[in-house]
Order: sequence, then structure tokens, then C-alpha cells
Amino acid sequence: MSPAQRIQELRQQLDRHNRLYYVENSPEISDREYDMLMKELEQLERENPDLDDPLSPSHRVGSDLAKGFTQVVHARPMLSLGNTYSLDEVNEWVNRCNESLGNSGGLLSVPLVGEMKFDGTSISLTYEHGRLVRAVTRGDGEKGDDVTANVKTIRSIPLVLPAGDWPESFEIRGEIVLPWKAFDRLNEERAFNEEPLFANPRNAAAGTIKMLNSAEVAKRGLDAYFYYLLSDSLPADSHYENMLKAREWGFKVSDVMTLLHSTAEVDDFINRWDVERRNLPVATDGLVFKVNSLRQQLNLGYTAKSPRWAIAYKFAAERAMTRLREVSFEVGRMGVITPVANLEPVLLSGTIVKRASLHNEDIVKSLDIHDHDMLYVEKGGEIIPKITGVDVDQRVEGSEPIKFVKNCPDCGTPLVRMPGEASWVCPNKYGCRPQIIGRLEHFVGRHMMDIEGVGDENCSLLYDAGLVRDISDFYTLTPPPLESLDRVGPRTAQRIVDGVEASKNVPFDRVLYALSIPFVGETVSRKIARAVRSMDRLRSMTREEILTLEDVGPRIADAILEYLAYQPNIELIERLRAAGVLMALPDEDLSDHTDLLAGKSIVISGVFSLHSREEYKAMIEKNGGKNVGSISKKTDFVLAGDNMGPSKLEKAQKLGVRIIDENEFLKMING
Ligand code: IVH
Repeated sequence: MSPAQRIQELRQQLDRHNRLYYVENSPEISDREYDMLMKELEQLERENPDLDDPLSPSHRVGSDLAKGFTQVVHARPMLSLGNTYSLDEVNEWVNRCNESLGNSGGLLSVPLVGEMKFDGTSISLTYEHGRLVRAVTRGDGEKGDDVTANVKTIRSIPLVLPAGDWPESFEIRGEIVLPWKAFDRLNEERAFNEEPLFANPRNAAAGTIKMLNSAEVAKRGLDAYFYYLLSDSLPADSHYENMLKAREWGFKVSDVMTLLHSTAEVDDFINRWDVERRNLPVATDGLVFKVNSLRQQLNLGYTAKSPRWAIAYKFAAERAMTRLREVSFEVGRMGVITPVANLEPVLLSGTIVKRASLHNEDIVKSLDIHDHDMLYVEKGGEIIPKITGVDVDQRVEGSEPIKFVKNCPDCGTPLVRMPGEASWVCPNKYGCRPQIIGRLEHFVGRHMMDIEGVGDENCSLLYDAGLVRDISDFYTLTPPPLESLDRVGPRTAQRIVDGVEASKNVPFDRVLYALSIPFVGETVSRKIARAVRSMDRLRSMTREEILTLEDVGPRIADAILEYLAYQPNIELIERLRAAGVLMALPDEDLSDHTDLLAGKSIVISGVFSLHSREEYKAMIEKNGGKNVGSISKKTDFVLAGDNMGPSKLEKAQKLGVRIIDENEFLKMING
């Protein structure tokens, strides 16, 4: 087989596996097998630069070449939707459609399609001959920004369509979203870096798709759902069938897409999804109803701003009012005290709310909540209920403002609040029950040791039964004592023991995260583990050395040092190690590592011909250097390929940072 044929074959296979994984949620091969195919493709593409294709699956990682966005005029304007918050108005719209098409009565002679209204940012993709040629934001509806480079990093979006009956040229519109999980992760990271948080996934998605650095976009975990197909030669004459076709071609079309034949079905659809939307992985802010037949759509036509054949029903940010029973104070894994409003149960957007976090002392003060106050509770697009105010008129005479506790509600230890911190903390880390149990729950969690069979409830059960007093005790568990626990039968007991056994394969970076060292979150643990390789090495490091690690500042360094200085923690680590928990990353082949670039900060920019950007990054690291994202005074040099970004070039010149090309770099490290 010629390289060209193999490249073609690999691209098709990778595109297919990508679709199975990101769109259909049913992968057929392991990540490792996928990586092997990708490596082979990258290698062949490197050896055959003339066969490169910007839409190759190897180009999904983005680049940090900051280009401004070019404006593109939409072939067909991107309209908005008429919207309403009332079920009655939806029914009126249904009747209007029916009547203007010459029908009336309960059954619709105008079948509709009901869909979710995804709360993200809209995007228009243009495909020609089955290839993505352009991705443009809505902009002002007439023209938007060309964000193709960023959109290409979204794994669920097909770049090249497999053979199919797609029209030679078509446009498909949809919503770019940031799933809740990715949104939470992003905000956690931002909180950690003390960057401003995104208020909701919509802002985060809109902000991300307009980032100049597509490599950054690639990391954020965007996704996209498609809901509108446009072409001069559509495959079918109904919206529903066209969307089924789009799904067949590899686009992510939501499963929530239902044909509706009567106003009763419309009402049911609304009632169902107003509640069930909470179980979806992405934010939604309403439902969209569309006339299914394209001929009927054409007849109904458009107003200046929106189609008459569609309407959005928006979910209200519901507000309720209820009486405060009491404020309780809860102790988290890190000893942070959270005030929680315990409420008279109240129905709010389909669920009963009994509790709402008040977050910290300052928030309690600013709301000025008194005992037994009537409180406003709100639930917007977010799932978590929030106390937004007090109805002072209904205040009980003589009631006192809520006082924040001075001692730990669980162990009685006097609380401390560090200057500049919002929270009060119980300092009795190793003697306070909720903190110990919190650490057990964290340890077994999915991103940590992922111990199957042990949920949050089991942790307190195990602790209270004296079977697990600290995380190392998990490794001493055997079925018989477990079976004596409430609600634990032989099968669960065996699952727990097997889960514990399996956790001995969890890599060291996750073990480090599982230990609950303050401020050492998932990302930081990974970075530290990769840099230091082992617990022993970390223990031997000085404060200065720890501070040189990527993303580690004084707060983290001190937390690590404090943790490792406490003898019982060292004993705990040794017990874990003795039980078989991994305390080091597997040995890398260190024979080709050097110190040639030790201490050097190096920026990579542009397009290279001899090796890929990833390979250059690996070379820098192997030789002791650090690859950093942006140029500063501290940058030692820029490794530049073709088309280095003009702003980078200017900055490097201004700061007098040396620019070297790939040949020079290779000479540098190969002596
Ligand atoms: S249809 C001409 N369907 O809502 C009709 N829009 O308020 C085009 N949206 O700009 C839109 N989910 O960004 C449609 N299932 C869905 C949608 C949806 C979210 C967004 C879209 C649009 C905005 C209108």
C-alpha cells in the first residue's frame, strides 16, 4: 500500500473512531489503539508533507498562532427565535400555525418537532464535498467571525464526512456548548488560579470559541449539538428527517427530538422536559418547537427577525418563598465550615427544596438573615438553589441576626479564619469526624482511587463501625466483617474488596490527588507527579525546589510541606505503599535525558517541517527545558517555525528574546 493510501485509510479510521467515541458514545477500540493509529498517521504525514490536509484528524489539537478573526457574511442570515415563558402562548402559536395553514381543531394537521433549546453559542458550519470549509459565529446575524480553527478542535464535529448521501454543499447550524462537567472543571481551575469565574456554561462557551489560541480551546472540552440543516438540495422535505440524515452523516443531533401531533403532546413534552432537562449533561434554557414540514415552513414564512414556523419556550428562573428553620454549619473535608439554610420544604421548578448553601460568613452578613426569616429561593439555569434575599416585612419581631459559629459544630475546636480567606476552618484536621470521613470519600472517588462499591454512605458506615479509620485501612478489608454492616451483602462486600484490589493499579498522580493535601487538586497533582516522578523524591525536596514546579505557588508548596512534615501522614503513606499502592510513576527511559536545556523557558511558535510541535515539546522536556505558552522577559528563546504569529514576533523582538529555527534547535540538543 502506498503512503498516500495508508494515510487516507488511517484518516478514515480515525474519523470513524472519533465519531464512535464523541458522537455515539460507543467506542470500539481502546484509547491506546487509537493513539497508535494516530501516531502512525502523524509519522506518515511528517514523512510526506505534500500529503498534508488541514482537516486531517491529526490537526485537532489546535495551534497557538493567534490570528484575529475574519468576518464572514452568512449566506442565509442567522435569525433568532420568537420566545415565550407561557404554555398558553405556545398553544396560541400552535393554533395560529394551524389556522394560517387552513386547519383548526385539536389534532394538528401541522405536525411539530419538539427539541431542547441548548444554552450555548450558535455556530454555522459549511461543508463542501463532505469537507468542513468554514465555521462562523452568529455575530449580528448578518455576518459573524470565522472561528474554523477553534471549531476544528471540537472532537464531536466531523471534519471530513464518511461516504453518504450528503448534498455537495450544505450548511448546518447548531449550538456550541460547554458540558456541565467541563464547565465545573474549568471554574475549579480558574478559582484555583484566582481568575474570575464564568457565571454559566453559555458565557464560558461563547468566551472559549472566541479565544485566539486554538490549542487552549482544545483543552476546554467544548461540544456541539446540531439542529438546523440548510441546502439547495436537502435530502428530505421535513425537518425531522433532515436531522436524522445529519445524525447519520456523523453530526451530534440530540436524542431529545420528538414528533408532536397534538397540543396535548406539546403540553406533555413541556412538562416532561422542564423536569428531565436537569439530567442532561449540558445546560438548556428552554424548548424549541418547529413546524416539521418544510413546505409548511415556507408557507408560514418569516418576520423581520425570526421564523414564524418556530418558537422557543423558555424555562423561567423560578423563585419561591419559604421560611428559614435554622442555619446549620457543616464541616467539609478540608475543615471549611459552610453555613446551610434549612428551609420549610418548598416546590421549586419541579423539585422540593429543603436546603440551600449560604457559602460563607460574608454572604450571611450581606443577606442580613435573621432567625426564622422568610427567604427568597431561586433556581435558574443552574441546578443549585440559591437564597437571593429576605422579605423583611415578614420578619418575626425580636428575631436576631444569624450568628456564625465560633467553634467546630462537630468537634468543638475553636475555628480560625486566615486573613484574606472567606472561610472559617476547623483546624482539628486529624480528629474531626466529618473531615476524616470527607477524606475517605475523596479517596475512593472516581477521579482518585476509583474504588467501586464504596460510596459516600459506606464511608461513614465503615468509619463508624471502626473498620476504616484512615485511608490505609481500606487495604485491610476482607469480606466477613464487611458483611456484618447494614445494607452490605456478600456481593457488595466482594465488590468492595475487588475495588480496593484494583485501586493498586491507579497511577501515582491520582494517588497524590487522593491524599487530600490542601490545594493539591487534580491538575496540580498530575503536574507535580509528572515532574517529580515519586513520593520519595517529593519528600526529599526543599521549599525552593517545590516552588520551581509548574503551577506551584507558595500556598501549595507550604501545604505539601506541612502535610509531609506530619509524622502520622508519613506512616500513612508507608502503610499505603506496603499495601501495594503506587507511590511512583513508572520509570521512563531516562537514558536519552539530558540537562542541555536545564532551567530554560522556551516558547514554540509556528509550523515546523522536520518534527511536529508535540515532538519538539517532548524534546525540550527530555533535555530539561520547560515549554511555556507566552513570551515574557523570562523566556530564553523562541523555537520558531514558518508563519510565526506576528504578535509573538513583535513581542520577542521588543523584549530581545532570541529566535531560533528548528535546524539550530536540533543542533543545540544533538551537540
Ligand atoms: S433553531 C431559524 N433550535 O437559540 C431557527 N435554535 O433564540 C434557528 N438554539 O440562535 C434556530 N437550541 O442559538 C434552534 N434546538 C434549537 C436550539 C436553538 C438552541 C439557540 C440558537 C438560536 C437561539 C434563538
